[in-house]
Amino acid sequence: MSAPRITATGRCFPERVVPNSHFYEELGLETNEEWIRSRTGIVERRIVDRDKGESTASLSAEATRRCLEQAGLTPLDIDGIVLATITPDLPFPATACLVQDRLGAKNAFAWDISAACTGYVSALAQAAAMVRAGMGKRIVAIGAETMSAILDFEDRNTCIIFGDGAGATLVEAADEGGEIVDVVLHADGGGWELLHQPSGGSLQPASHATIDARGHYVKQEGRAVFKHAVSRIAECVEELLERQGLTRDDVDLVVPHQANIRIITAAARRLGIPMERVAVTVDRWANTTAATIPTTLDLMLREGRVKPGDTVVLCTFGAGFTWGAALLQY
Ligand code: UT7
Repeated sequence: MSAPRITATGRCFPERVVPNSHFYEELGLETNEEWIRSRTGIVERRIVDRDKGESTASLSAEATRRCLEQAGLTPLDIDGIVLATITPDLPFPATACLVQDRLGAKNAFAWDISAACTGYVSALAQAAAMVRAGMGKRIVAIGAETMSAILDFEDRNTCIIFGDGAGATLVEAADEGGEIVDVVLHADGGGWELLHQPSGGSLQPASHATIDARGHYVKQEGRAVFKHAVSRIAECVEELLERQGLTRDDVDLVVPHQANIRIITAAARRLGIPMERVAVTVDRWANTTAATIPTTLDLMLREGRVKPGDTVVLCTFGAGFTWGAALLQY
């Protein structure tokens, strides 16, 4: 059987563009353009319009439609939907089921994966393994978030960093596309408290008290997460390359998680890979958690930055802690 490959991609962002000035001019936060740009690399982000019914499911369904359109397939042609998110439309059922319903993908199984910023690489690993095992011919792996739903817009430490968006990729056994050669995945639950949402789960169900304590919002120890991110990303890319008998010179493009331009440049420096070979979209889309890698990969493919024969590395780090890297051979 042919190897599992990414044969098509699609992305969808809300139309609403939110510039950095929104936070200091409209929300009155003590922040400024210089700080946000120099400390994060972010210029603007997209945020959903709930009045238009935009959500993680709506963005995911549209990204998948665009992906299937590129492949020349209909939703009935897919066998599964694996959707990575930490901002599902509902606590249950899975957002993947809502996407399946919106698309009319009646032949597809559907479930969500919760691995934060490592969600998409985890979904990709699962889709590739299932295709390889013959448990599905065509599986859509999605990374999608509506981070604006869990941001405290009074907390300048977190609300300026994130954005909303969705990226979808079709995984199938084929002779063309990006072969999913290998995936490295890790976790260290000891870091859970450094990046988490305290309330709304079974430990602290929603109550007046959890709302008063602003417990339904993202809490992050930014500096600590930053340090872990740089080391773990560099380590797992090295592990992946070593396992495949490759060196940094074999890598044509790195598509890293887009959390902060300083994390990306520090990890690239540690790996000895020049920034010309690193994809950057944090400036325009900010940190969309599980969606950064599939949306950036889609942009790179559609802009012709990936050519047949190219070796592409995806790499990421996020809440959990979770981290990982994937090797794609085009
Ligand atoms: O995607 C999942 C994984 N997440 C990440 O990888 C994010 C990792 N962390 C980061 O990207 C960075 O740590 C942040 C962007 C969150 C923060 O940047 P930093 O350079 O680490 O800043 P800091 O947290 O050390 O704060 C430095 C100062 C503090 O002031 P004091 O205590 O030195 O007076 C903050 O209060 O900057 C202050 N600060 C701000 N100032 C203006 C924090 N946020 C802002 C802000 N505007 N928006």
